[in-house]
Amino acid sequence: MKASEIREKFLKFFESKQHQRIKSASLIPHNDPTVLFTTAGMQQFKPYYTGQADPMKDFGSMNTVSVQKCVRTSDIDEVGDETHLTFFEMLGNFSFGGYWKQEAIAYAHEFITKELELKIDYVSVFKGDDETPGDSESRNIWSKIDPSLTIKDHDRKDNFWGPTGDEGPCGPTTEIYINGVEIWNIVFNEYFKTKDGKYTPLETKGIDTGMGLERLLVQVQKKNNVYETDIFEDFIKSLPNDILLNKKRILADHVRAMSFMICDGVRPSNKGAGYILRRLMRRILAQFSFEVVQQGIEWCVSKYPDLKLEEIKKVVDDEWKQFTVALNSGLKELNKLEKIDSETAFRLYSSYGLPVDVIKDKFPDFDSKAFNKEFEKHQDLSRTASAGQFKGGLASHSEKVVRLHTTTHLMNAALRKVLGDQVMQKGSNITEERTRFDFNSDAKLTDEQKKEVESLVNNWILADLSVKKEIMSIEEARKLNAVGAFGEKYSDTVSIYTIFDPKTDKVVSREFCGGPHVEHTGVIGKFKIQKEEAVSAGVRRIKAIIE
Ligand code: ALA
Repeated sequence: MKASEIREKFLKFFESKQHQRIKSASLIPHNDPTVLFTTAGMQQFKPYYTGQADPMKDFGSMNTVSVQKCVRTSDIDEVGDETHLTFFEMLGNFSFGGYWKQEAIAYAHEFITKELELKIDYVSVFKGDDETPGDSESRNIWSKIDPSLTIKDHDRKDNFWGPTGDEGPCGPTTEIYINGVEIWNIVFNEYFKTKDGKYTPLETKGIDTGMGLERLLVQVQKKNNVYETDIFEDFIKSLPNDILLNKKRILADHVRAMSFMICDGVRPSNKGAGYILRRLMRRILAQFSFEVVQQGIEWCVSKYPDLKLEEIKKVVDDEWKQFTVALNSGLKELNKLEKIDSETAFRLYSSYGLPVDVIKDKFPDFDSKAFNKEFEKHQDLSRTASAGQFKGGLASHSEKVVRLHTTTHLMNAALRKVLGDQVMQKGSNITEERTRFDFNSDAKLTDEQKKEVESLVNNWILADLSVKKEIMSIEEARKLNAVGAFGEKYSDTVSIYTIFDPKTDKVVSREFCGGPHVEHTGVIGKFKIQKEEAVSAGVRRIKAIIE
């Protein structure tokens, strides 16, 4: 049975049980700022669980069924093994007060054992804890349906679902295992968890189920892993022999995720969903020829005819052009290395935007924990709330922060040029989104002065100036007119960053600083002042971004 037949079988089965077939929602959740991507089938139905919307009015039924496209990035490091994917399709049936545990369990049992003729290994139910009670009702239902079935008690970590984001519907689950693999998660939404961690009973009890299509296919088609199933098999086989198997898998997974993201309107950028897309794209663009990536896109469109070939190709082409310049220098350096330490890795990452994934692909034993430490060591910059949005968030955000850091030095130099050398930094703070810079000045910047600062910085960026770090004595640094805090906390030697034109050796900026910085300004992007305001008497503040 092929993937397309299973999707249809699932939808038809639940239609025959009075469910309304609903199209997959976009990968970008609307009206839900708590998550970057759609990660589960229930997301588009959230308001029906909480009573904010009426399923009868919208669907003509209390029950729905869908095949939802999903992206989960929490396991991105595991992609390439037998089971992990960033993009997957989730088969799900849902009810908003229409039916409850008895029916939900009976339907799942019937679909797995009768429709697909698979043998259930065992099932699990929630065993209960201090927060919410165990689910003996589900245990009883299962044992009546099949007295010979093994029923295991699992804890909250495995058998309690939700909420997605920091509040929302949630509840205990029962899960079906086949050949030791979790296949189907059936959630009984009976609570609403509030932001402060309280569980209140929902007025309408809801059913939310999710079964990963790719994992199910492995069982139905009796394969060893998802890449041998009919969605992936031909493509993997068509790839050149000299590409390692796990790389073929990463390519297949990432091309599919990328194609769906692009067709749902995501564009590579430096934040949020766009950043995840950029990370996936750059990982494959760095490792495969353009032709192989194109071949991947064509495979995806052949499997999912709703995807738009030209749109995907154009976005990939644009990103490729932007990326190759900086990347080639980074890759050249990487290829020369026989081993790597976290400091070097960090430098390749911060200067050229070389993805950590690519570094890990060449050096599989590379310790990303040490890399993260390296980053923390270097950073005196605040983390943003969004850093926690996906694993490895800290490291993945650093590239932008590092670019903003160098931008801040350029901005400081530009302000001194425009307003005079009396301008001194009074404070700065950099997040993933922007740099904030405080400096002494009595007057508001005029529009003209703002424009001047912007164009100076942008010209320096376009000139692709070099950035170098030197350790020297305080005396030497003073002689060189380095700017920055000459506080007592410094030891005899200090670290100085100089931004200069490599052709003429002309110095644009020289500052005391611990780093890290980009190696050359061409990788920064476009600089823009967003806001200029007063913070206190004689101190002004600029917020600026790079695009
Ligand atoms: N919402 C549940 C899940 O994603 C079914 O596992």
